[in-house]
Amino acid sequence: MCGIVGYIGTGAVADILLNGLKNLEYRGYDSAGLALNDNDKISVYKAEGKLFNLTNIINNKEISKETYKGIGHIRWATHGKPTINNAHPHISNDEKLVLVHNGIIENYQELKEKLEKEGFIFHSSTDTETAVHLIDKEYKICNNLEQAVLKAVKQLKGAFAFCIMHQDEPNKIIAVRNHAPLILGLGDNGNFIASDIPAIIGVAKDVIYLDDKEIAVVEDKNLTIKDFDGIIKIKQKEPLNIEEESISKRGYEHFMLKEISEQPDIIRKLLSINMPDFNQPITFGSCDIYNLIKGIEKIEIIACGTSLHASKVAKSMIERLARIPVEVTPASEYIYKTNLTNEKTLSIGISQSGETADTITAVRQAKEAGAKILTITNRPNSNIVRYSDAIIPLHAGIEVSVAATKSYTAQVMVLSLFAISLAEIKDKITKDYALKLKEELKSLPTKMEEVLNNNTEYKNIASSYLDTKNFIYMARGINLATAYEGALKLKEISYINASGYAAGELKHGPIALLDENMPVLAILVPNTSTYSKVLSNCEEAHARHAPIIAVTSKDAELPTNIFKHIIRLPEISEVLSPILYALPMQMLAYYIASLLGREVDQPRNLAKSVTVE
Ligand code: G6P
Repeated sequence: MCGIVGYIGTGAVADILLNGLKNLEYRGYDSAGLALNDNDKISVYKAEGKLFNLTNIINNKEISKETYKGIGHIRWATHGKPTINNAHPHISNDEKLVLVHNGIIENYQELKEKLEKEGFIFHSSTDTETAVHLIDKEYKICNNLEQAVLKAVKQLKGAFAFCIMHQDEPNKIIAVRNHAPLILGLGDNGNFIASDIPAIIGVAKDVIYLDDKEIAVVEDKNLTIKDFDGIIKIKQKEPLNIEEESISKRGYEHFMLKEISEQPDIIRKLLSINMPDFNQPITFGSCDIYNLIKGIEKIEIIACGTSLHASKVAKSMIERLARIPVEVTPASEYIYKTNLTNEKTLSIGISQSGETADTITAVRQAKEAGAKILTITNRPNSNIVRYSDAIIPLHAGIEVSVAATKSYTAQVMVLSLFAISLAEIKDKITKDYALKLKEELKSLPTKMEEVLNNNTEYKNIASSYLDTKNFIYMARGINLATAYEGALKLKEISYINASGYAAGELKHGPIALLDENMPVLAILVPNTSTYSKVLSNCEEAHARHAPIIAVTSKDAELPTNIFKHIIRLPEISEVLSPILYALPMQMLAYYIASLLGREVDQPRNLAKSVTVE
């Protein structure tokens, strides 16, 4: 949460910073701010709400042509409401030192009390302001920004990434990383600091990933990186080979719709990378599954949000195909419960961003307990990778929309391949069955395209549910996770209350909610042991006047009188159905939210990567 940027160089500082913040908006959008430094002084600009409020302010100001450096921030509030006073950058009492922060300073209360006693005046209710006054206090003793920052960070507990400028040290910005992401960008016209890659695409040529407890002195043409003891670190730069196109909407109204439409190609790509040939074993790049599962008696999967739903699909697949017990735990629960994790456990951390604090902490604990760690992530340079013995990348490209879509189906695809691969290694499925599954996977992208081509149908169905306040999604078996994910998609972007239920559980409570105002979406995959049971649950819902949407296959013979809408998908076997069946859920949620005029890509109160526990 929160995005920070910094730039020093000969380019148009304010524009570069605003553009950087725009590409970091997925991290938060409660308020935004910039601090710009020209030869004379530091000026701070802040605005509540979305970034365009700040952009309007800056566009109406005459920014000095002498401006050569600046820092910026986009906020997802943790400590203190999203007001102007709490917006970053925060400034020292003498107005010479400014700082932007991502993370949480855990011991801010005690530091604040001490600093207040020493005469520092606080203007916000944030934890961040403590860091400003602390660094300022140290600066007044040593008169050197780098030394002052090094002394201050040793007194701070928690997670922090900072960009810091001081008016009396005009040629530098200081960047600090400790348990919150931060990268450096190198360009022809100066150097950059950012929370994430999208902020520097199109302006930087190379990137350096900072590690925890590192400080960088960033100058126009120079970068010096040290650890918190002041020892110089030599770090490799990597070329930034990402096109600006990849973070543009490419003509779509929303990133979410664009990302939904990218899914068939991502699945094709994953198949060609991991399963180029049916007759060869499935491979996962540098991740050697055979060695990874040697001696393993149990698998546990740790994740949050949408990644947690992909984990639930994986549990069904792995247990069914490879017969290995799998436990799925939300990362925020894993951290505080008794886990029977040991060296015979394979712990899989699934995280699109690789930055989710709960997932990282849980994975670290699993590692400490002796487990082998496999990470499945869309960002192979992210924080989570530090604790991993092996990584499987998702190759889904940058996902901008806060609601995850393409990363979810990529996760489920990788996990399907992983389950089949485990089953083959453990000799739990016949060669013929493995071949049949692989052939079906190959046909998936075309089937997905067929499903996504029906957007007029989804739009029409969506338009019938715009006054709906509540929704139930029900399924049994492997697609229960699909129902949970469908309900999550709807509620997070439309603000309609939606819950996923095991269809058989409906009669044990939720049925009390049913009437003509409570639509039920039922997932009915034919030729499965649960099909007729879900159908009976639909009858029960129909008897209580609930409007029912069936999501089923083309060949299903459904009684037409009980369904208000029937969405028909190409045939697919149950174990591989979750990817295909996720698509209508995404499309319905998208069209309901967009017809309601919601901010589809940036739903209220949410952020794409949650870097606080
Ligand atoms: C946030 C996002 C969700 C995401 C979850 C886990 O809550 O809003 O869309 O599923 O974090 O993110 P991760 O990057 O760990 O998959």
